[in-house]
Amino acid sequence: MAEVNLGVEFCGIKFPNPFMLSSAPPTTTGEMMGRAFEAGWGGAVTKTMALEKVEVINVTPRLTSLAFEGFGDEPRKLYGLENIEMITDRPLGVWLEEIEDLRRKYPGNVVIGSIMAEGSSSEDWKELAMKVEKAGAQMLELNFSCPHGGIPGKCVGKAIGQDPHVAADITRWVKEVVKVPVMVKLTPNITDVTVVAKAVQDAGADAVSAINTVSAFFGVDLETLEPKPSVWGYTTFGGYSGPGVKPIALRIMLELARSMKIPISGIGGIETWQDAAEFILCGATTIQVCTAAMMHGYDIIADMLEGLENFMEEKGFGSIPDMRGKILDKVVEFSRLDADRRVVSTIDRSLCIKDDLCYIACRDAGYQAISLDEARMPAVDEDKCTGCSLCMQVCPVWDCISMKERSVVK
Ligand SMILES: Cc1cc2nc3c(=O)[nH]c(=O)nc-3n(C[C@H](O)[C@H](O)[C@H](O)COP(=O)(O)O)c2cc1C
Repeated sequence: MAEVNLGVEFCGIKFPNPFMLSSAPPTTTGEMMGRAFEAGWGGAVTKTMALEKVEVINVTPRLTSLAFEGFGDEPRKLYGLENIEMITDRPLGVWLEEIEDLRRKYPGNVVIGSIMAEGSSSEDWKELAMKVEKAGAQMLELNFSCPHGGIPGKCVGKAIGQDPHVAADITRWVKEVVKVPVMVKLTPNITDVTVVAKAVQDAGADAVSAINTVSAFFGVDLETLEPKPSVWGYTTFGGYSGPGVKPIALRIMLELARSMKIPISGIGGIETWQDAAEFILCGATTIQVCTAAMMHGYDIIADMLEGLENFMEEKGFGSIPDMRGKILDKVVEFSRLDADRRVVSTIDRSLCIKDDLCYIACRDAGYQAISLDEARMPAVDEDKCTGCSLCMQVCPVWDCISMKERSVVK
């Protein structure tokens, strides 16, 4: 079997493995980042820092969630988190000491400083970038993407990431004053993310990371009639993260990987080694994780490392670059998909639990190709089945319904 090397070079910096904690609650302090390195994370991005003159006040509560309630005894499983949390409320001076300390104690790990200032202030961006570089951060991540916490009349967070000119100007200012690589964290809350990505690439960015959270409103408590999360009766649009955003993040990963020359750090709903493998196959060089670490703690890294290594060994990938972007040319324009070969539904009757879901779905949202016999056992009429696969999607039993190639094309 091929020897697998999980180490990766990103913007010229060597990472022991591609996994990082993203800028978020799991990187609230240097002490926490140190514990994460000891658990096995290759790198960590600090919670976003600002100059000391910026007053950061958090509200409470600032999280709410979407959860799957499960069948029977299955536990509640969170698939989406919404936050209205601000950037770090800890003083920059303390952070700078902690970054220095982390670099001394963990020379084999990578510390990335996430920074944010007001869009029009070149002095603030430059001062902050130089201070964080001087403290020893090996890279900077410019936060152009926080979806909430906007200040009326000021250009901060996602407002920067939605304007290619402002984003490019800031990238240029920061690049003028630091030697360490500069990564730009992009917002998904934009029609075409590649416009801003290309603008910052042209302005000198060394990498991009995507995605930050997706702007969202998580609903209304029907008992109290208050919006969620309710901050004394009121709320604001927040940032959606966790497993539910992975498909959006992967689509953006593919768009970036196809159009950019600089490397990409993939973020968004990554919880398992399988998620990480998918991001790398779609073009990511490094991986960042937030919500999964908030839900399960730092130790999920052990399974991620072992799982990814085993997968790579099994598939014959010796390194992350061997595997990176391997499926890029398989995601094509709709017009290039083969419409001549067709599938039809096939039901394994030995696995059927007779809950009628396939029958109802096909009757009310398909082509009435499934009928039930007297014993409520479903049967597929292949001549009527158009191969949409809705029956397979709604069936609660894995492998009971599959799609097989139709021999005669009509
Ligand atoms: C509570 C919370 C706070 C966050 N704070 C920051 C932040 O300060 N700076 C930043 O760049 N991203 C921040 N993020 C965004 C995450 O770093 C990450 O981009 C996003 O959550 C998507 O990844 P995930 O699905 O793994 O959580 C925050 C996310 C959450 C949930």
